[in-house]
Amino acid sequence: MNIRQLTGAILVGVTGLVTLGMVACDGDNAIAVNQLKKPNLIGTFDYENFKSPSGANVSIKDLLQFRAFKATNGFPGSGGNVDTDMEEAAMTFSNASATLGRVLFYDKRMSLNNTVSCGSCHHQAIGFSDRMPVSVGFGGKTTKRNSMSINNPVQFNNLFWDSRAQSTMDLSLRPVFDHIEMGMESDEMLEKKLAATDFYGPLFNQAFGTPEITRRKISLAITHFLSSMVSMNSKMDMVEANSGQVQFSMLEKMGRDLFFSERTGCFKCHSGSNFSAPDDPGGAYGAPTVAGTANVGLDKTYADNGKGNGKFRIPSLRNIELSAPYMHDGRFNTLEAVVDHYSHGIQAHPNLDANLKDKNGQPKKMNFTQEEKDALVAFLRMLTDPVFTKDPKYSDPFAN
Ligand code: HEC
Ligand code: HEC
Repeated sequence: MNIRQLTGAILVGVTGLVTLGMVACDGDNAIAVNQLKKPNLIGTFDYENFKSPSGANVSIKDLLQFRAFKATNGFPGSGGNVDTDMEEAAMTFSNASATLGRVLFYDKRMSLNNTVSCGSCHHQAIGFSDRMPVSVGFGGKTTKRNSMSINNPVQFNNLFWDSRAQSTMDLSLRPVFDHIEMGMESDEMLEKKLAATDFYGPLFNQAFGTPEITRRKISLAITHFLSSMVSMNSKMDMVEANSGQVQFSMLEKMGRDLFFSERTGCFKCHSGSNFSAPDDPGGAYGAPTVAGTANVGLDKTYADNGKGNGKFRIPSLRNIELSAPYMHDGRFNTLEAVVDHYSHGIQAHPNLDANLKDKNGQPKKMNFTQEEKDALVAFLRMLTDPVFTKDPKYSDPFAN
């Protein structure tokens, strides 16, 4: 064998290996599990309680219990039933289980080829979003939609861009078994993989009183960590909590007034403390009175119809400054571009929401002046919460 033949043989060998790797891991970017770090869990955090800017205590267990009263059907006693999954999440919630949830959220072992964790598409510093129009999953394929920021998710009964998850518990394992996002193939595969480490046994034991690793406990722990993610320390919250001490600038005040005006109607959809809209539990028989999704006239024909008819989740505007690009497909790179859409870009879609139509049923033309655009953007920037994006209790325990 001469040198040339030898090189050829080596090349064939290498290619063979690479191909094998791809078959085993469904992606050419696989990482060997023994290359992954162990979590560094120094310090203890309080996940059970949250101090609001006004000094009131928010109990996460109470929020879970509240959501257990399955809001889509109305409250128990008025035709609704209890969401037993969320009830169990409320009963089993503790600092130890949320700590376990934090580890699971950031652990790349949770993906088929050890390359992706929840945290890969949800970065704390940018409000748990990523900077991509659409995200890249474990095998290098792209997701259908823009990664959503995460804040106060326990308060919603309509998570995801098409509202398909009714609670944090309902959502918790979907990304793990999604064939683009994390690609796990079975409960057994996931459980065995975690059981093969030396740190999960003790963490599950502390969280649930037994070291066995089950799909149910994984789901509960992720739910607990997600549900503890409370964002309540934006400048807007400060102004509301300590009026007098923290004040609006002139521009922010102008933006706030515009946001809450009939002329824009922003507040009619982006409502409540999260500037969002959950599906309302409704009246006595539980029929929804407020839909948490709307068609905002992005296109005349939608490539992705969301919940149907181009309706998408009315997203929370908290930390919105950080989570560019915007909309379900990440089509706008800046808040200015979003404001421009509402100013003069709304399309006459047959299903355009009534709040964005004028008296004649045509798409509203708000035609903002430059100052008004700046004011709206200044107001939106007030919703950034610098405490939330730096709080070590939500940080990546594998980072150092
Ligand atoms: C490959 C990127 C990727 C990974 C990994 C990923 N997500 Fe997401 N996440 C997304 C995308 C994209 C959406 C929007 C999906 C949709 O609406 O169809 C989303 C939406 C969400 C939402 C909804 C927020 C809201 O307000 O409705 C939550 C919560 C969430 N993800 C949590 C998680 C958790 C927990 C994990 C890990 C178990 C995870 N994600 C893993 C990309 C990802
Ligand atoms: C009819 C209800 C409705 C009204 C009125 C409305 N929005 Fe929206 N908003 C939505 C929906 C639904 C989306 C997501 C649309 C999509 O991705 O298809 C959205 C998206 C956004 C986003 C981007 C969110 C993200 O995470 O990407 C911003 C910012 C925003 N709206 C601000 C405003 C402002 C400012 C106004 C007033 C000028 C306004 N909205 C009026 C329903 C509404």
